[in-house]
Amino acid sequence: MKKIKKIIQKKGKDPLVCLSAYSSNIAKIIDKHCDIILVGDSLGMTLYGMKNTKSVDFKTMLRHAESVKKFTKKSLVVFDMPYRTYENKLMAYKNAKKAIKITKCDAVKIEGGKKVSNIVQYLVKKKIPVMGHIGLLPQSALNFKVQGKTNYQKKKILDDAIAVSKSGVFALVIECVTESLANEITSSVPVPTIGIGASKHCDGQVLVVDDVIGLTNFSPKFVKQYANVKKIIEKSVKNYSKDVRLRRFPFEKNIYKIN
Ligand code: KIV
Repeated sequence: MKKIKKIIQKKGKDPLVCLSAYSSNIAKIIDKHCDIILVGDSLGMTLYGMKNTKSVDFKTMLRHAESVKKFTKKSLVVFDMPYRTYENKLMAYKNAKKAIKITKCDAVKIEGGKKVSNIVQYLVKKKIPVMGHIGLLPQSALNFKVQGKTNYQKKKILDDAIAVSKSGVFALVIECVTESLANEITSSVPVPTIGIGASKHCDGQVLVVDDVIGLTNFSPKFVKQYANVKKIIEKSVKNYSKDVRLRRFPFEKNIYKIN
């Protein structure tokens, strides 16, 4: 709860740094630079080559979340509830409780606005911290499109933001909306907004770490690639392969001897 309070207190003050990550090795590296690590169901596409997040199952999420949480000391770790695991409040509670018990994550994230506000309220009442997610909703979207361009969409998304914030979310992911809408939402809700493709007018930003380091080919406009790790891996493996084929590896210092 201490970590959550700190996150809420940063609203309108210090920008919040959030990354989606799925493994212990990455968690160890990014922990000190983040406020929040999200074990996102985007792992379906990023790690498992799925078309969307709908096929990600609960068991897979548990495994990855356990691995991330075990090696995270400082950041708040959020478990992304996969598709169809929170269809009503009892189902949501049963699954969220199990996820937190097994993975020791600090909170869960669920997608949706007004439609899920009774579920959010129930989880919060049962002492499960919830992060909201509005705008583009990958678990139900038919295609990848910027949200909030029409007045109708704008009003609906703003209403969604207000509904879930009133229901008790401690932070709100806003995905892929126009700059003006992100601005309006951020100034209308009392909790921090975390944007992905949602401009600077949010209290924090989130990206998928694999996209940030250039491990994936996912490069929509809202992603900035800060490194090209794919190239580094390729070069290292090429050199290793050459050394093995030329019988250079293992080198002297890699060999066990009696004395
Ligand atoms: O699944 C995920 O990684 C997410 C973030 C990109 C917000 O939902």
